[in-house]
Amino acid sequence: MEKVVALTKRRGFIYPSSEIYGGLSGFYDFGPYGVALKRAIRDLWWRHMVDLRDDVVGLESTLIMPSEVWAASGHLTNFVDPLRQCLGECKKRWRADHVTGDRCPECGGPLDEARMFNLMFKTHVGPIEDTASEVYLRPETAQGMFVDFKNVLNSSRVRVPFGIAQQGKAFRNEITPGNFVFRVREFELMEMEFFVKPDSDDEWFNYWRKERMRWYTEVLGIKPDRLRMYDHPKASLSHYSKQTTDIEYEFPFGWGELEGVADRTDFDLRVHQEKSKVDLSYLDPETNERYLPWVIEPAVSLERIFITLLLDAYDEDIVNNEPRVVLRLHPNVAPVQVAVVPLSKKPELIGPAQEVMKSLRGEFRVEYDQTGGNIGRRYRRQDEIGTPFCVTIDFETLTDQAVTIRQRDSTEQERIEIKQLARRLGELVS
Ligand code: GAP
Repeated sequence: MEKVVALTKRRGFIYPSSEIYGGLSGFYDFGPYGVALKRAIRDLWWRHMVDLRDDVVGLESTLIMPSEVWAASGHLTNFVDPLRQCLGECKKRWRADHVTGDRCPECGGPLDEARMFNLMFKTHVGPIEDTASEVYLRPETAQGMFVDFKNVLNSSRVRVPFGIAQQGKAFRNEITPGNFVFRVREFELMEMEFFVKPDSDDEWFNYWRKERMRWYTEVLGIKPDRLRMYDHPKASLSHYSKQTTDIEYEFPFGWGELEGVADRTDFDLRVHQEKSKVDLSYLDPETNERYLPWVIEPAVSLERIFITLLLDAYDEDIVNNEPRVVLRLHPNVAPVQVAVVPLSKKPELIGPAQEVMKSLRGEFRVEYDQTGGNIGRRYRRQDEIGTPFCVTIDFETLTDQAVTIRQRDSTEQERIEIKQLARRLGELVS
């Protein structure tokens, strides 16, 4: 983990938020390569959850929602963690379920009794800060899908079973953020609420558990032996859940939740129907049955996938008798898919190299790398940010109109005519 954290800072993936002012605990900024990786993950999720399917539609709801939503959903009363504070020297606060015994893990002082702490960030709408103006930053995007359920139903041609997907920021005032971006206070959720007939929830629950696992291994290229499914025992289920499976990854600090797949029953539609007095039932056009659909929900944050991918891809090996650090990212997600590197800074190579770069830019995430020292050093830099392919323009290019593709993982090199280059890279990336 330490090596990956250092690499993310060194190479511009992640920085602590507001670092020049000492940072803000649990908040991070994403730098140039971090943004590229994040966008790639986000786009692949949307592509596989929405674009490639005909039973899921998208939604973007607001980040701030009124208290009524959170009262109905149960978040005002149930979205709490038990908190204990050190009464000794350090005064540190701990999540009660993360400490054993009655002594502070930091300074050994006594801990107070556990009390419940609500994780939602509260703010006010308008100039007067009273109870009537209280609103909350959403701790999950899911409530947007439930609150807009009727709107989507009435304005699009969806039929149960169907899903509503959303990607967007969520906020949780975590008592103990940590493990880098694994647990943060501001993050980007990617959630899909899949509405099904009440008696078909088991079938769809199993479908989505398998489908999500397939996405991690086949589309993101995460090592299958570092993933497993963990079924929550009844006692640890959230207030809305009948059954939940976590897709877990073997992190350096142990197995941890990457994504949760939950069977939320009709809990949310039912409570919003009760509270808002708006009929949220669904009329089956074929059977004329009217019912509240049940919901299967796969939910994951971009930050969890981000750190998982980096940890899974990080490797050290020896190339040409020298140690190298390499991120073996799947070409689907690599922030740079193709680096175009002229062998030298001689003007006669720069022109053709830039032509090659421009010809590839529409199809791939391309970086032009002319300045990072000799070619070996530039390859190492690209290895470290996970670039799967480097295209080298050398003096022979000027006569044979061909370039070399160098592969990150094997370091094998292949000579190819420029006019075949985009097709060949397309094959390699996919
Ligand atoms: N709508 C369901 C829901 O929000 P959750 O298990 O509380 O369920 C869903 O969160 C996912 O969000 C988790 O599986 C994890 O990927 C991510 N997540 C939760 N809390 C997080 C945090 N503090 N920082 C980063 N990611 C978080």
